[in-house]
Amino acid sequence: MNKHFLDLDNFSLQELEEVLSTASSLKNKQKDNILEGKFLGLIFEKSSTRTRVSFEVAMTQLGGRASFLSVNDLQLGRGEPVEDTAKVLSSMVDGLVLRTMSHDTQLEFAEHSESPVINGLSDRSHPCQILADILTYQEEKGEIKGKKVAWCGDFNNVCFSYAQAAKIFDFELWVACPEKYMPREKNQFDNVIFTDSINEAVRDSDIVTTDVWVSMGDEEDENNRRLLFQDYQVNEALLDQATSEVIFLHCLPAIRGEEISSDLLNDPRSRVWAQAENRLHAQKGLLVNLLG
Ligand code: CP
Ligand code: NVA
Repeated sequence: MNKHFLDLDNFSLQELEEVLSTASSLKNKQKDNILEGKFLGLIFEKSSTRTRVSFEVAMTQLGGRASFLSVNDLQLGRGEPVEDTAKVLSSMVDGLVLRTMSHDTQLEFAEHSESPVINGLSDRSHPCQILADILTYQEEKGEIKGKKVAWCGDFNNVCFSYAQAAKIFDFELWVACPEKYMPREKNQFDNVIFTDSINEAVRDSDIVTTDVWVSMGDEEDENNRRLLFQDYQVNEALLDQATSEVIFLHCLPAIRGEEISSDLLNDPRSRVWAQAENRLHAQKGLLVNLLG
């Protein structure tokens, strides 16, 4: 297994399935000391509720410890180079989770880190989120292979990781997005179809998912985005166009009345709370496989 978890495509299908299967088997055990004595550092340049707490709780439940290291409290925030920080911290801790403005910071950190580096979100990708999403689907509906997944809205970091997952797990990803926000090189992704029609994307799909229109770091473009994405809201009537078995997912946090209708999180087709809880379980699977 690759030492670092920066993107899904650093791993084979078999390795990712192993992570998910470890996650499932640990899910019903409250305590297991597989990572006793291990220490995880969390370096976050951006806000987080789920990612931070799920990693902290995961380490505790696995018998280890985690410590949140705000960039402003580290010398990194005063200009100590990423390379030096990576060398020093990784000589002390067993793993590091990074949430960074730029994906390049993760690449540079990983290059100089002796310990595994886990991408806890960057401007490019959010691979941990997709592990939880796939676990949520598999638990309830079975294999995701061959299914149709509709992503509605911004082609952002979460969507990028979905696009990688589509190839690895062999499902079809339909991305409904205004042309302006689609990636330039659309054919770099296998199993991904881009359309500006949200109805076409959602029709007969097995999963419908979305995310905020303005990700952390995109605030300067906020007004344009609110205008161009207004036809890409996911609501109950839109979900009616999907299969009768569809589930709705959202990585959260969500903005009610923007990318989703006001009560969608409570729709019977929504699985967002199970999905959020699965961040904890999926990451336990990941930690055991990387640090164990
Ligand atoms: N979905 C997710 O990563 O949530 P947080 O930003 O709260 O960590
Ligand atoms: N795309 C969002 C995801 C937050 C979990 C962001 O980057 O802000």
